[in-house]
Amino acid sequence: MTTIAVAGATGNMGGRIVAALTGRGAQVRALVRAGAAGDKIAKLEQQGVEVARVDMADPSALAAACAGASCVVSALLGLRDVIVDAQSVLVDAAASAGVPRFIPSDYSIDFTKLAGGGNRNLDWHSEFREHLVKTPIASTSILTGMFADLLLYGTPLLDRKAKRVSYWGDADQRMDFTTMADTAKFTAAAALDPSTPAILCAVGDRITARELAGVAGDVDKTQYELVRAGTVDDLTTLIKTVRDASPETEKENFPRWQGMQYSRDMFDGRALLEPLANDRYPDLKWTSIRALLSAPRR
Ligand SMILES: NC(=O)c1ccc[n+]([C@@H]2O[C@H](COP(=O)([O-])OP(=O)(O)OC[C@H]3O[C@@H](n4cnc5c(N)ncnc54)[C@H](OP(=O)(O)O)[C@@H]3O)[C@@H](O)[C@H]2O)c1
Repeated sequence: MTTIAVAGATGNMGGRIVAALTGRGAQVRALVRAGAAGDKIAKLEQQGVEVARVDMADPSALAAACAGASCVVSALLGLRDVIVDAQSVLVDAAASAGVPRFIPSDYSIDFTKLAGGGNRNLDWHSEFREHLVKTPIASTSILTGMFADLLLYGTPLLDRKAKRVSYWGDADQRMDFTTMADTAKFTAAAALDPSTPAILCAVGDRITARELAGVAGDVDKTQYELVRAGTVDDLTTLIKTVRDASPETEKENFPRWQGMQYSRDMFDGRALLEPLANDRYPDLKWTSIRALLSAPRR
């Protein structure tokens, strides 16, 4: 049986990837840091997952934990010390253990098309990628755009209480969204596919702000207001103002200004995903924004 090692298996995305891998019949080894919560480990073990508690800063312990896997999948989340430093130790350990393939914790818009310096978190993904491509291991970045699930939590882009869609720049700019569940299933399929390219893109839905207002209005059976907040450059100025005013938020994974940076890079259109490999695994079905918004709310 094929063994896939998953780092970050105790997290939201990692847990979904683990479930998708076991659903595809893979043996999963969760690489879990020593201090991970007992209930999260118990949940993994209940799914038949082998749990390797390991010091993520110890290269030889990590290499031993990776040995025998055909792919190491990362779903780590954190600041630079995690995305750049911990993932670098992880991929080096995987390579030294002879693991042939690695999937980094990207799951994002196409950060390789961004200029750099404008999106803190994605700059770390780029910095890690520079290390990754020099490592003697084949790698595949899974890029699926913004997690569509975030639209359910009340963002400025889609405010279902106020029945309003707010956008910056062009109401007809297309943007990429994929649910976490679909991203996890795609990642699991890619982890078990020995011939993936360096970057594999897919999107659940590609939609403009204007279309989003129409879809949300249909689903909620009401008229949505479509509001232009300003130009994309105005948003860049606002991001700087918000960030400068809250230096303490630099330690947060997703401060408000980081979400704004992500939105700006979507409204700007540069980070659209291509080519799309939605049909690469024919058993996978993709969730549209309409289907997501129509699903009963929990
Ligand atoms: N496209 C989008 O819109 C979008 C949105 C959100 C997230 N993402 C991406 O999705 C990925 C995962 O996010 P998530 O929401 O699933 O994160 P999450 O639920 O917070 O899980 C993070 C995982 O990383 C582990 N971790 C954190 N710091 C670590 C360290 N120093 N050493 C070892 N393990 C560590 C955590 O382990 P413990 O359980 O031990 O803490 C946990 O398993 C990230 O790549 C993120 O950028 C994308």
